Amino acid sequence: MAKLLYSATMSLDGYIAGPGGDMSWLTEHAAEENPTADRLLAGVGAILAGNGTFGGDDPNRGTDSEGAFGGQYHGPVFVLTHRPPADPPTDVTFVGDLPSAIEQSKQAAGDRYVNILGADVARQCIEAGLLDEILMFVAPVLLGDGVRMFDRPGGTNVRLEPVAGEVEHWYRVVY
Ligand SMILES: NC(=O)c1ccc[n+]([C@@H]2O[C@H](COP(=O)([O-])OP(=O)(O)OC[C@H]3O[C@@H](n4cnc5c(N)ncnc54)[C@H](OP(=O)(O)O)[C@@H]3O)[C@@H](O)[C@H]2O)c1
Repeated sequence: MAKLLYSATMSLDGYIAGPGGDMSWLTEHAAEENPTADRLLAGVGAILAGNGTFGGDDPNRGTDSEGAFGGQYHGPVFVLTHRPPADPPTDVTFVGDLPSAIEQSKQAAGDRYVNILGADVARQCIEAGLLDEILMFVAPVLLGDGVRMFDRPGGTNVRLEPVAGEVEHWYRVVY
């Protein structure tokens, strides 16, 4: 059964995008070799992205590196949105509610990961008790403002347990 994994590269101060969704800061860090990222890519069977991510800034737009995983991911993509485009691209499935999006993406992923992209969608998965794991790559940069990797007004206390043997910030969510 597929697991739901939220992954991103975040700044040391916990932002996955800068002010106004700026992603230009990521370019120099995304180019670095990372065996964990390679292993993650091999383990992803489907992507479930929020529309904020799908329509967001991509400094690689128009190049071979455009898209998830620097253009190296070629599997099924599901996008959660209340506003599906009238003329959707053929390689993307737009879904209007979280339970259906999770069901469809898990089915597509088989026994691999559904990679959640977007902090809003990830938070909803956590609140629903459905997110299995979190993997954060930390870029050596401070952004000071932008989209937090996890934002919950009023706060909460989500317990995380390190995945044994991993060197990156890879955790199981404990409910
Ligand atoms: N650093 C990294 O590795 C990394 C990775 C991924 C993303 N990012 C960045 O993170 C930012 C996006 O994150 P985010 O948290 O702002 O947004 P997000 O989670 O990507 O998308 C949020 C949007 O998804 C749709 N949505 C969410 N929940 C829904 C639901 N239950 N039913 C229907 N539609 C739903 C809504 O879009 P509609 O308004 O269309 O309904 C909502 O505005 C972007 O700037 C992106 O570039 C960074």
